[in-house]
Amino acid sequence: MNHSPETRRVDIYAGIHKALRAMMMDTLHAVGSVDVEDAAELHAVCGRVLGLADACASHLGHENDFVHSLLEEYGNGPCWEVAQDHREHLVAIAELRALVATLRAACRGAAQAAAAQALYRQLALFIADNFVHMHTEEVEHNQMLWARCSDDELRALEGRIVAAIAPAEHLETLRWMVPAMAPAERAQVLAGVRAHAPASAFAAAFYNAPA
Ligand SMILES: [Fe+2]
Repeated sequence: MNHSPETRRVDIYAGIHKALRAMMMDTLHAVGSVDVEDAAELHAVCGRVLGLADACASHLGHENDFVHSLLEEYGNGPCWEVAQDHREHLVAIAELRALVATLRAACRGAAQAAAAQALYRQLALFIADNFVHMHTEEVEHNQMLWARCSDDELRALEGRIVAAIAPAEHLETLRWMVPAMAPAERAQVLAGVRAHAPASAFAAAFYNAPA
């Protein structure tokens, strides 16, 4: 494969990582600013942390199943830090779910405020670690993928990942991904949805931005 340095290669991480970064930052802000005296708001914020935990676990699974297995087929496998991060992130995700359960079970007042603060701090550390992790994937793994795969092969890989994602999860991802993207990227993603998904899915992706 001969790609000039000026040629932009297919980047399978760019869009989904923008979505995850946006979702993480917004969720952290929601946890940090939650009014623990407001039961409905607290319930909604706990639900958002669990939603982020589910999204992160699912994303990690897709990377393991499709990207890391492809790198293994080429004989290298994922880089050590990334594979280790994935194992540690599953533990961290379980800890976040436990902290949400603790917050929901806490009595009102000081105990609830302390539980919210504990969740906020742990979520911030998890997000900080994920930001470094995603950067490593975008630099190290992309170099490995670009050295071994053509752009058509990378588009096919992306297609296999998208096909494995349930429609509801796909819509939730687009809800964060589309507003987080640069206009040209946004237009490309929406054109793809329009070409390959039902009109109702396109309308949902187009209008369903984060509240
Ligand atoms: Fe990852």
